[in-house]
This record gives sequence, structure tokens and C-alpha cells, in this order.
Amino acid sequence: MISIIGAGKVGSTIAFLCGSSGLDDLVLVNRDEKKAIGEALDITNAIPKNSTISVSGTSDYSKIKNSNVCVIAASVASHIITRSDVMLDQAKMITEIAYKISEFAPSSKVLVITNPVDVMTYLVQKRANLASKNVLGVASSLDSARFRYLLAKEFGTDQSQIKDALVMGEHDDSMVPIFSCAKFGSTLVDDILDEQQKLRITTSVRSYWKSLRDYKGSSVYGIAKNTFDVINGIIKNQPLEIAASVSLDGQYDTKDLCMGVPVTITKDGIAQIHEISITPQEREQLHKSAGIIQNNIAQVEKFLN
Ligand code: LAC
Repeated sequence: MISIIGAGKVGSTIAFLCGSSGLDDLVLVNRDEKKAIGEALDITNAIPKNSTISVSGTSDYSKIKNSNVCVIAASVASHIITRSDVMLDQAKMITEIAYKISEFAPSSKVLVITNPVDVMTYLVQKRANLASKNVLGVASSLDSARFRYLLAKEFGTDQSQIKDALVMGEHDDSMVPIFSCAKFGSTLVDDILDEQQKLRITTSVRSYWKSLRDYKGSSVYGIAKNTFDVINGIIKNQPLEIAASVSLDGQYDTKDLCMGVPVTITKDGIAQIHEISITPQEREQLHKSAGIIQNNIAQVEKFLN
């Protein structure tokens, strides 16, 4: 069973992807129960004809009992300037949700997409005392998809020609596109791009969400599909190599935070955190990014205590 907490645009799109592929039973939880029921009734008509899954909407957290996967897609408000705009209010809300998960589905795999995602993922895991291998933030795979797209655009090609596009670090203004790994065909992009091009692409990856905000209001399909892929991998037990925000304990010389790094996810959660080789400059940027997340975590903990 998959529970999706937050039935706004992103939560209900994730639910639609799960339901329309007949992945598993779905429960949508929303403070406004009518909204959750409405989305569930709509998605019910999109499930495959011979599927046995059920889709329901509720405001009652006890219905998430025995979930394999819980997705947290709830938000108190939209961010406008940075993803950390509404951090303290989000922190309060997400802590309450985390307690509900620990009460009703403590061994589920918890996917966090509420922003600022690294801070929220950390809070969910720590405050509800969930196993760290079971909690991850989905965002760096979306940033990596954007990086892939922007590299393809730079080279005037399509994204199938770009391999190993990876973004690590904070899912916000300090994220670090790893140019030293990405390839155009069999050539390292580091060998083709000059510093100015790299700077321009870095700025575009970091502010991609702002283009979505300006053109259409909010970011929906990219994050929804990236989240669906993780759910699908867990439910079908198809190991997935992906960048995600996970709790670090010494990897990349960082600890006491969640941050985007390459991982392997299986039905048992985060099976492996990969320490890949990156340049000293990228490592330095990653540490700077970690410092920003840690400052935000300290601010939130002070607020909550
Ligand atoms: C974005 C949101 C999901 O980057 O943070 O589009």
C-alpha cells in the first residue's frame, strides 16, 4: 500500500501515476478531506481495467497503517524566493506528519518532497526516530534531470546523448552539478565546456524551478515522475541507482544532515550510499552546501525546541 500525504498538485499527480499504472493500493491523506476524496474518485477512473487496486481519500491518518511507502507531499504554502522561504512553518507541519507516520506506519519507506527537502528529510527521520535507511528526500534526481537537459541544450543534442548527469548537495541555491562525471557521448563534458559555460549551466540548474514558477506557477510533473520512479522501484523491488537526500554519517566528510548524494534504493530502503570521486573544487562546493543545510537545520531545531 502507498500512502500519499498531501493531495495538492504534486501529491495527486504522484497518486495518478501510481494509480494509472496499477502499482498498488493508494491512500491519499489531506487536511481537507473533500479534496482527498475527490482526487481519489478521479484517479479511480484511471486505473487499468483489470487492476485490483483501490484508491481512497481521507483526513484520518490511521488509514495509512501497514503502508509500504509513505510520501510526504504536503506544504503549508508555496515558496517564492528560495525553497527555504517557509521553512519554519513547514518544519512544524512536517514534524506532526512524521509523528503520525511513526505511530501508524513506522517501518514504511518514507519519501519526502516538501521543501526545503534536505532539512525536512532530516527532521522526519530524527524527530520521529525512524530508521535512517527508510527515509529519503526526492529532489536531486530532478536536479540531475534538469542538468541532463541543460547539457543537451548546450551541445545542441538530445538528452539521450548525455550520460551520468548528476547533481549533489542541497536542493536549493547551493546545489552542485558534477561536471567531472557527466559525458557527452564518450567525452567528459569537463573537457569540452569552459568555465563561463559551466557557470551559466550551474545557474540555470539552480534556478530552473523559478522558470517553472514564472511560466506556469509551480513545478509538478518532473518531481512527480521522479518520486513515482522511486515508489515503483521499492514496490516492485527493482533496485534503483539515483541521487537522493539521505542521512549522512561521515560520507563526503559530512554528518548530522541529509543531503543529495548518489544512492542505491531497494525494497528495503537505502541499500547503499555511493562515495564517488569528484574534483577538489566540487568537494569544496559540496561542503559549502552541507554547511548551508546544517545552518538551516540548527535554525529549525531552535525554533521547534
Ligand atoms: C523544484 C521543486 C520541486 O525544484 O523544489 O521544482
